[in-house]
Amino acid sequence: MDIFIKATPQDVATHAADVMAEYVRNGQTIGLATGSTPLLMYRELIARFQAKELSFKDCTAFLLDEYIGLPREHEQSYYRFIRDNFTSHIDIDDAKVHSPNGLAEDVHAEGPAYDAAIEAAGGIACQLVGVGANGHIGFNEPACSLNSGTRVETLHPKTIADNARFFDDDESQVPVHVLTQGLGTISRAGHVLLIATGAAKARAVKALIEGPLSAFCPASVLQLHNHATVIIDEEAAQLLEYSDYYRFCADNRV
Ligand code: F6R
Repeated sequence: MDIFIKATPQDVATHAADVMAEYVRNGQTIGLATGSTPLLMYRELIARFQAKELSFKDCTAFLLDEYIGLPREHEQSYYRFIRDNFTSHIDIDDAKVHSPNGLAEDVHAEGPAYDAAIEAAGGIACQLVGVGANGHIGFNEPACSLNSGTRVETLHPKTIADNARFFDDDESQVPVHVLTQGLGTISRAGHVLLIATGAAKARAVKALIEGPLSAFCPASVLQLHNHATVIIDEEAAQLLEYSDYYRFCADNRV
């Protein structure tokens, strides 16, 4: 893993945007995450597009996950979230922004179909992920298969509580089921870029980098990936035992 500890969330966003921009410049397929953490990075990429430094016109994008039961137009659907916060502000072709269909008649068939669509697009060159306080990436909750494909997942009560902030602080409005790229799907991306900021992520960050490889912390699957980059701020890094070593590596890259 390449680990970068940055002073502020904005520094995390700038560095993550630098990583993504390389793939965008080459018109490659990118994987997008929702949630609060990537918002600054999306803002940074939008600014680069507006400054005519970057064009997304040749890119294809796949979202990580989607709530089951929410139509695309719903304010909290992840499709709508990505449109509102990112893709409607850049020049990517809407038809090339894919998300799992949370209203599919057969939601269990939707997962394998999504994985097939990713494969047909040549795979994801760079997949962005955030991390949940419980160590999930995508919506792969603790104890899921480390090799799972895209599928239906049941949210952990902690995730429902964390996400209630987007649903008028009402947990009962948060869908219990989601479609998520599996850990196997995420692991097939050429490069996985994980970003995390804030003290609430410190335990998950410690577990994913320094804990054992375990389905109990799904993000620890990145320990098996041969091109995983983790960019975090000081608050999220505060529990790391070898943070000095990670800084040393970052300062002495060859
Ligand atoms: C979002 C996703 C989730 C979030 C995670 C962190 O598409 O799959 O894994 O990345 O829950 O969310 P935030 O960034 O809101 O803390």
